[in-house]
Amino acid sequence: MDNKTKLKGEITIPPDKSISHRSIIFGALTKGKIKIKNLSVCEDVISTLNIFKQLGLKFEYTSQRNLNIDATALFKNKNEEYTFDCGNSGTTTRLLSGLFSWQDFTSVLTGDESLSKRPMKRIIEPLRLMGAEIDSNDYKLPLKIKGRELNTIEYHSPIASAQVKSCILLAGLGIDDITTVYEKNLSRNHTELMLEYLDANVSTGKDNNGYFSQIKKSQLMPKDIEITGDISSAAFFMVAAAIIPNSSVVIKNVGINPTRTGILDVFNQAKIDYKIFNEKTVCSEATADIEVNYTENIKPFEIKGDLVPRLIDEIPILSLLATQADGISIIKDAKDLRNKESDRIKTIVNAYKKLNIEAKEYDDGFLIEGKSEINKDVTLETYLDHRLAMTYHVLSLLNKKETKINGFECVNTSFPEFLDLMNKLIVK
Ligand code: S3P
Repeated sequence: MDNKTKLKGEITIPPDKSISHRSIIFGALTKGKIKIKNLSVCEDVISTLNIFKQLGLKFEYTSQRNLNIDATALFKNKNEEYTFDCGNSGTTTRLLSGLFSWQDFTSVLTGDESLSKRPMKRIIEPLRLMGAEIDSNDYKLPLKIKGRELNTIEYHSPIASAQVKSCILLAGLGIDDITTVYEKNLSRNHTELMLEYLDANVSTGKDNNGYFSQIKKSQLMPKDIEITGDISSAAFFMVAAAIIPNSSVVIKNVGINPTRTGILDVFNQAKIDYKIFNEKTVCSEATADIEVNYTENIKPFEIKGDLVPRLIDEIPILSLLATQADGISIIKDAKDLRNKESDRIKTIVNAYKKLNIEAKEYDDGFLIEGKSEINKDVTLETYLDHRLAMTYHVLSLLNKKETKINGFECVNTSFPEFLDLMNKLIVK
């Protein structure tokens, strides 16, 4: 990096990917005509939209991120066999598996090389307990799901995963009796909030067994849906502003649903200079503007336990924050990082080792030694993992030598606007 490069200015963060998937799925399930405002245009969300198009959803864009959807002809073709391409999207695959398990058709779910390596046992097992008929390639894609009537379960999820929880809730949406999912640590609750917003029979709470979410058969009300900005996308700018000298950035419309704000807990531990303002609620989701300023003395931090699901997608970029902290930062209880778009424990640690940064791999996390100077010509691999690609781009802004990123294009899976927004903030 040219030592004078800094980030200055204001950006509006694009819509949340998780909520965008859910707006299409639940919007379609209203079987009505609604407007979706501020839908993400990333490839993962387009995968979900295209699948619903195959199933009879009609839509027209009124501007780049606003569209009208018409679901009145949804699921009209019964007893068909469809092949659906889920692309790189685990959320598409896992959520729709729950929904398709009780429809009057057979679905074959396929995906790209990275998605085809990811574990599906976590959804196949509970769905089979509900009576679903699913074939898989040794618990991986392709999945063949023959829709049929399901029975309810009370499922105690062994992992805090919103994809698993939402899959079961989508399966339970077709059953008269109550289906319950328990989690020890609470994962993101966008499914529950959107179901509640659309007047479904959903409830949530906490008892001796942990956090529970319950659903039973519901007719969803056709209401317009507006999507807040994605804190997982904002995270790249938040960390970049904190670690690049003389930076000061305002990020507008960032979703601050408490199940997603683990990064702010880490910022508090690390004593990052930030503030939150303009808080409001949009379609049951909290949102705000966030200002982050360069922080000279960054404290080391620890990520573990119930913090992990609240920042699971931010761990790649928080690992870069750790390289600049004044001491050793530790990430543990995060074994599921190995099942993301890449094995993020291995890929992250290996990348830092290439840069001579002290990093140590554990079964369920890693350790990073801070105050590391990044000053080496390096080539980094993305392995089709968009969050690695964006982390390495921020790293390249700190590296005094050249950083080459192989496969950077995969940023389009979650955040096609990333580079334009970053370039807008860079001041030399
Ligand atoms: C997501 C849940 C998380 C997250 C993923 C999106 C969702 O996965 O990593 O990017 O939209 O439900 P897990 O539920 O598997 O942790």
